[in-house]
Amino acid sequence: MPSNAVPPSHPLKRPAASRVLVPKPSPKRFYGHGIPGVDLAKFTGKLIVVEGADGSGRSTQLAQLVSWLEGRGHATVQVGLKRSTLVSEELSRAQQGNILSRTTLGLFYATDFADQLENIIMPALKAGFMVLADRYIYTLMARDLVRGVDEEWLKNLYGIALVPDAVFYLQVCAEELVQRNFAKNHALDYWESGMDLGLSRDMFDSFLQYQTLMAEQFKHLQKTYGFSIVDGDRPTEEINRELQHKIESVLAGK
Ligand SMILES: Nc1ncnc2c1ncn2[C@@H]1O[C@H](COP(=O)(O)OP(=O)(O)OP(=O)(O)O)[C@@H](O)[C@H]1O
Ligand SMILES: [Mg+2]
Repeated sequence: MPSNAVPPSHPLKRPAASRVLVPKPSPKRFYGHGIPGVDLAKFTGKLIVVEGADGSGRSTQLAQLVSWLEGRGHATVQVGLKRSTLVSEELSRAQQGNILSRTTLGLFYATDFADQLENIIMPALKAGFMVLADRYIYTLMARDLVRGVDEEWLKNLYGIALVPDAVFYLQVCAEELVQRNFAKNHALDYWESGMDLGLSRDMFDSFLQYQTLMAEQFKHLQKTYGFSIVDGDRPTEEINRELQHKIESVLAGK
């Protein structure tokens, strides 16, 4: 064996799956004004977002991605809507009644997002974690756009957000969403059916109409934010293979 050859027991000779792949850093930026005094150059982790309608399979995919990433030696952190320590409980309570105006409810969600951004997402990225977000600003924007909130105002509001390293939108047709939601919860959710909009008194009908409006807004936002659309109407494993393949490119800094 030549003196400079890698011996068979050397880590470089191990199969790819058992090697810890150190993510290649890529420059980070905010969508707009961002958060003052933050040194983005120190953020070595990656922010991966999975978007999609209620019941589109986000939790299923994220759970598989977490075990896949952790199995490869990456530390992960998960965030999602209405999960901040600051306001998640109050937000849930406010949603029990229909007491907030559209703007106030939107700002409540923005506060929940900002708290997680400052206290979970940014510190984790600084520590080199893989941050997996179950929904991000796009769902919040789409919900508000469907309710007639001004788009420029929303873009300015969410100018605090970090641009993720990848955003995957799980696209699932409305009829399949109904099936999955019934299979999971045996019911449809008031807010995810857009019942506050008065589209229909029938929740099933309202759900279909509302999810169609949401899908249109996502299509519109895709033009600005360029997220990757993933066909979610396929078997779980097939979708996950595609996501893993795309995340490998992110880890390689592509
Ligand atoms: N690719 C798939 N094909 C068929 N069924 C699926 C698929 N992915 C998830 N499901 C099923 O659909 C239901 C919803 O999935 P899941 O909870 O992952 O979705 P979600 O987007 O996280 O939903 P929620 O918006 O309620 O958080 C579950 O019962 C799950 O087992
Ligand atoms: Mg879920």
